[in-house]
Amino acid sequence: MNYQWYPGHMTKAKRQMQEDIRLIDLVIELVDARIPLSSRNPDIDELGKNKARLILLNKSDLSDENANRQWSDWFQKKGFYVVELDARKRNRMNQIQSAIMEACREKIERDRKRGIRNRPVRAMVVGIPNVGKSTFINSFAGKACAKTGNKPGVTKGKQWIRLNKSVELLDTPGILWPRFDDQSVGLRLALIGSMNDDLLNTDELSLELITYLTAHYPGALSERYQVSEDHDRPVEILEEIARKRNCIQKGNEIDYSKAANLVIDEFRSGRIGRITLELPGGPE
Ligand code: G4P
Repeated sequence: MNYQWYPGHMTKAKRQMQEDIRLIDLVIELVDARIPLSSRNPDIDELGKNKARLILLNKSDLSDENANRQWSDWFQKKGFYVVELDARKRNRMNQIQSAIMEACREKIERDRKRGIRNRPVRAMVVGIPNVGKSTFINSFAGKACAKTGNKPGVTKGKQWIRLNKSVELLDTPGILWPRFDDQSVGLRLALIGSMNDDLLNTDELSLELITYLTAHYPGALSERYQVSEDHDRPVEILEEIARKRNCIQKGNEIDYSKAANLVIDEFRSGRIGRITLELPGGPE
């Protein structure tokens, strides 16, 4: 990961989360809409049990619209509230506000019965590195970023952002690790750029991507690069892309690495199209 996780880090992050979670009513969990399962933390359901839950399918501008709908349904069936999001924009913020209130309806009702009115819902944002947590907090909090400071009964040092009269957000997001135990999860995380590229074999990665794209998004590569997808091996497609994009080194040799990096970059920035790398119904 950009963030290198070690057992010590993980224990500390988990302990912090356990502490913070006691203070809140709602967990706002960001996942990457291109890999909604692979970008989840393996322990979050256990950590967040007994809390209201909202999933934000973030970077949904980069993922397949049809797949976004499938994932929304899938999470909703599991009891989560879900909003598809591009965290850089503010256009879904009303929808998120409504989802928060809906997700916390029971708590609000309980408060009301006890005669407590207007106690804001408290929420925290969690997710793996780079999923868009800070971007979301900035967009959602906007100018309302006034910190409410320490409150009696709250662990010293905790800062709350008062979003409006009904919601307060813990200002530091919970950073959690993704799964490490499964190679295909690692591959998907690498493809979306969650891992440090220095540690990756980008040539291999690009071939995996080409294989996936020709199988699940036929036509995407031929449209982007004017290449034929009708080859036996993905390396032949990479070679054609290299020629088209002039990835040639001294001696007129194909520069595979340059072409590999180009394809990966263009995938990550959405230039090959809106693509989702896993669908509901696969192995969980
Ligand atoms: P984090 O706090 O969870 O670690 O993530 P952060 O907000 O820093 O976001 C990571 C990168 O993802 C940022 O790009 C941000 O602009 C981008 N990003 C966040 N939400 C969305 C979204 O919904 N759609 C798209 N397309 N991008 C999003 P960055 O800082 O410019 O990094 P990079 O893009 O140069 O890697």
